[in-house]
Amino acid sequence: MTDTARRDDRSEAVKETSFITAVIRAMENAHPDPYLVDRHAELLSTPRSKMLAAEALAAGGTVGSVIVRGRFGDIALRQAVAEGITQAVCLAAGSDTRAWRLGLPSDTRFFEIDLPGQLEAKEMLLAPVKDQLACRRVSLSEDLRSEIWPHRLIAAGYAVNRPTVWIVEGLLPYLQVEQFTRLITDVKEISAPGSVLLIDAPHAEFYRDPDNEQFLAFMKSRGSAFQLGLDDFADFLGRYGWRAEAYTLRQLSEGACAWLPSPPARLCPPHDHHWLARAYLA
Ligand SMILES: C[S@@+](CC[C@H](N)C(=O)[O-])C[C@H]1O[C@@H](n2cnc3c(N)ncnc32)[C@H](O)[C@@H]1O
Repeated sequence: MTDTARRDDRSEAVKETSFITAVIRAMENAHPDPYLVDRHAELLSTPRSKMLAAEALAAGGTVGSVIVRGRFGDIALRQAVAEGITQAVCLAAGSDTRAWRLGLPSDTRFFEIDLPGQLEAKEMLLAPVKDQLACRRVSLSEDLRSEIWPHRLIAAGYAVNRPTVWIVEGLLPYLQVEQFTRLITDVKEISAPGSVLLIDAPHAEFYRDPDNEQFLAFMKSRGSAFQLGLDDFADFLGRYGWRAEAYTLRQLSEGACAWLPSPPARLCPPHDHHWLARAYLA
């Protein structure tokens, strides 16, 4: 296999992780007492996606980080929009359905970025609900490890002088720390004061806990290895200029975040060491 073919294979495997998160959200939506309501996730749950999700769950994959960050992000995005923010950028948007399901005001610009092919596939599957897209959605196919994406975002109409809600969910496991620091620096450089960052990441403990060994080996073997883990997310974000409130899943389940309903224990098992953060740019 050539180097390019190997890179393409890895990209496919990483892209497919967003099919897995869609199925996880559809499963939660069907729960008798759902913590997250995403009624469009079922449209994204193709037979192949369901098979991929079943494999990941059988290998010990957890669902809590996906579901809890979904609710966390919904509440924080709605609040930011209610306070007057009219621009959002969802990086590694994958199967995110917020532009369709949150009823965002029509003057909201909602940019989505993901690797080539990913957002087009979602648009096709969400065709039955395309009339629910009230905001001004713009999608871009970009590799967020490159230096070019901020320029392309600006060329696509992103306004650098407007406060923005940045949503970065489920991306960090697939980045090396240097790639993340460049990304977070680029984001800050094109963010106006008052911008909000909603972001999640594995805790470093995720990699140290023997209960995650099988899942980590599975993700590596399928070409989507988890790479990045952080011991103190708020401190890390603070070093890059973002004033952050960060919580582990366990802290959230114990009621640590005043504005988020505590997630149930079923979504916060002890080995799911994961950070969720909301951060501001002063
Ligand atoms: C686990 S999914 C998360 C998707 C969505 N944010 C969610 O929470 O469901 C990871 C997503 O990151 C995207 N991704 C990974 N590496 C990327 C990169 N270098 N550039 C752009 N997108 C990337 C994948 O294509 C995939 O859609």
